[in-house]
Amino acid sequence: MSERFDAIVIGAGAAGLMCAIVAGQRGLRVLVVDHANKVGKKILMSGGGRCNFTNTGTTPANYLSANPHFCKSALARYTPWHFIELVERHGIAYHEKELGQLFCDESSKQIVAMLLAECEAAGVEIRTHCSVEDVQQTDDGGFRLRTSQGAFAASSLVVASGGLSIPSMGASGFGYQLAKQFGHDVLPTRAGLVPLTLTGKHAERLHDLAGVSLPVEARCNGVSFRNFLLVTHRGISGPAILQISSYWQPGDDLRLDLLPGTDLDALLHDWQQRRRDAELKTLLGEVLPKRFAQRLCEHWLANKPLRQYNAPELRAIAELLGNWPLVASGTEGYRTAEVTLGGVDTDGLSSSTMMSKRVPGLYFIGEVVDVTGWLGGYNFQWAWASGQAAGAAL
Ligand code: FDA
Repeated sequence: MSERFDAIVIGAGAAGLMCAIVAGQRGLRVLVVDHANKVGKKILMSGGGRCNFTNTGTTPANYLSANPHFCKSALARYTPWHFIELVERHGIAYHEKELGQLFCDESSKQIVAMLLAECEAAGVEIRTHCSVEDVQQTDDGGFRLRTSQGAFAASSLVVASGGLSIPSMGASGFGYQLAKQFGHDVLPTRAGLVPLTLTGKHAERLHDLAGVSLPVEARCNGVSFRNFLLVTHRGISGPAILQISSYWQPGDDLRLDLLPGTDLDALLHDWQQRRRDAELKTLLGEVLPKRFAQRLCEHWLANKPLRQYNAPELRAIAELLGNWPLVASGTEGYRTAEVTLGGVDTDGLSSSTMMSKRVPGLYFIGEVVDVTGWLGGYNFQWAWASGQAAGAAL
């Protein structure tokens, strides 16, 4: 015999908990199962422990997906302001860091506590340490789950098991397997919002600068992000690099403007007029981190007093500083990636309810779906919005 619910949600992360709350509030009997030892682990570790829970500037343009229109409906119906209203109702203090990114003043634990309080108020049952062993459709169109804690049945099943990033936090490819089991296409997955690794001469020249950070504009495949770059022991990271990593694949041309917003021709011309005897590395050390400027002049630029450069040489310096080609060898992979690109093909899902077009009663929400946000609170906003869409439709 299976214990019966109206809906079972697999995954007690951001999307699964939001979906369960909304369905529970509508009077449905909801069970959430998660194989991890506690709920919302990624929420807890997010935003450096302060959870960047949304972004007030969220638009569909902040997401990557094979179908860029898919996320529009859910995002329009559950906006950042809906989530902010919930946060405020629970008395959680927050602040804007930059570019609409909202963080808890104190701790991301408050967001998990808020979601658990809402689940309790809505009568949602949550089981952790619960591994799903098998999922089958029943004759009446419902679903039966065999788990490490017994058998459960429901007329609706919501897959909110997330992506592959940070396997040590409970991430698994379970949702993709389940999607395939029910005839859905799964688009190729890869790590996103992830540090890039360097090998060869770039690695040799930069690795001892680990910890050096500078503002850059990172460009790849027609997309650009202006923010900080951080040199790491294995390569490069920082917000500008994490953002562009979602648009980069091995072999793609990655360019960095090392002095974004600066008219380099004018700067070099000015130096040649007014600082004729100063060496390039000294002058660059005034506008870039000193050690980084020195390294550029050791390996990429010829260093001499400014008066000795001719016009083509100055143009070449401006070109290199404004369009520095950095050959990354790969990414750090799922071990450190914030998100997984790709996933359950949105072609098989309703954009208004997240329900499968093939199997009525089956839903996919959150990161398991092929919708991936930029860095800055957009991924949680997608989790809340897609969770709400399914929770209201079950
Ligand atoms: P999520 O991964 O949150 O939840 C999935 C749940 O399913 C997990 O609890 C997992 O244990 C469970 N599960 C998996 N397989 C299972 C199985 N077989 N059986 C049962 N349960 C299973 N985003 C953002 O907007 N702002 C931020 O500040 C950050 N910061 C951040 C930091 C770090 C280090 C990471 C790794 C990620 C972020 N993110 C982020 C991204 C954000 O965490 C992510 O997009 C959402 O958590 C996705 O929510 P989901 O509910 O879809 O999956």
